[in-house]
Amino acid sequence: MWNKTRVTEQLGIKYPIIQGPFGGGLSSITLLTTVSNFGGLGSFGAHHLSPAEIQTLVSIINTQTRKPFAINLWVKDHDGEGLSLPEKSFDQAYEVLEPYFKELGLKKPAYPEQFGYTFDAQIETILESSPPVFSFVYGIPSPDILRECKKRGITTIGTAITPDEAVALDDAGVDLIVATGFEAGGHRVAFLQEAENSLIGTLSLIPQSVDLTRAPIIAAGGIADSRGMKAAFALGAEAVQIGTAFLACAESNASDLHKQKLFSDEAKYTALTRAYTGRLARGIVNRMMIETTPYQNKFAPYPAQSWFTGQIKQAAIEQKRDDLMSLWCGQSASLIHCKNADDLMNELIKGMQC
Ligand SMILES: Cc1cc2nc3c(=O)[nH]c(=O)nc-3n(C[C@H](O)[C@H](O)[C@H](O)COP(=O)(O)O)c2cc1C
Repeated sequence: MWNKTRVTEQLGIKYPIIQGPFGGGLSSITLLTTVSNFGGLGSFGAHHLSPAEIQTLVSIINTQTRKPFAINLWVKDHDGEGLSLPEKSFDQAYEVLEPYFKELGLKKPAYPEQFGYTFDAQIETILESSPPVFSFVYGIPSPDILRECKKRGITTIGTAITPDEAVALDDAGVDLIVATGFEAGGHRVAFLQEAENSLIGTLSLIPQSVDLTRAPIIAAGGIADSRGMKAAFALGAEAVQIGTAFLACAESNASDLHKQKLFSDEAKYTALTRAYTGRLARGIVNRMMIETTPYQNKFAPYPAQSWFTGQIKQAAIEQKRDDLMSLWCGQSASLIHCKNADDLMNELIKGMQC
């Protein structure tokens, strides 16, 4: 039976299909519960939320599903001075983005109280609210945290983008490992090497990770239909994590503008960029990505760059300006056509049965 693996057994789910978490406000409770109630594992990317918001999120989800679900955080919560940018760097980062602020009729933003939240504060809430699954990227939580998760019955899912990272997660005793090839939409969540030096495709990454680890491997990156799933299982994966195809569904919190782009011809053309967050991530090539890349040495480190572009994005969505906002997207977007999560789950499962 294709749907009976160590991953389904460990997570207590019917199908080895994980809806990838989306950080930065693109996850939704409806998408998570739809996938979890269907028998997969729904996830919510919560790295941009305050500890109080995470607590509320978990309580609401608990009222809407009795099935397992995952809350996802970013272990390395900032780069360099990204959480407390000196004024000079604030002005320098703004200077690169100033033309877009002006084009959208926005004033220079005031220096904020904070650019983002710390992992240390967020993880306290995760432990207190104990979601069934805690998934994470950009590193490995401390042994104390992993021990505490075990004690509280929280299954842990770490993320590797190289075989070395898969081994590091396995050695740390993480329960399950997502291995993400560079086809994937969103960030290259490197933690051992620079992201630019961690660009391995799914076809190479999965079998190497399977061979090197005791923990089961969940394949991610470029999987958008049952052909991709079958390939992942043939390589030894015991589940798949799908991002872009779920992001395009009505239930996700991506803007209509973003979803239209995912179904457009332009989704064939993606690139890795630091323009939108200060960290390397894959999205559809657009004007702001192209124009700002030559000035990337002036970008603010994560999360400050994200804070700047987040304000531009809000106005860009209101003014229907898809040239001035991140359009995260993986390399297999051209394969997607399902417009809601139930249809996508049904189609994936049907494809696996024949
Ligand atoms: C918009 C977007 C945001 C994402 N945010 C996160 C995140 O916060 N945490 C995480 O573990 N993965 C994140 N991912 C990765 C996905 O969960 C998933 O692993 C990846 O999209 C799989 O590749 P695919 O897009 O080719 O299906 C994100 C992906 C996208 C497209």
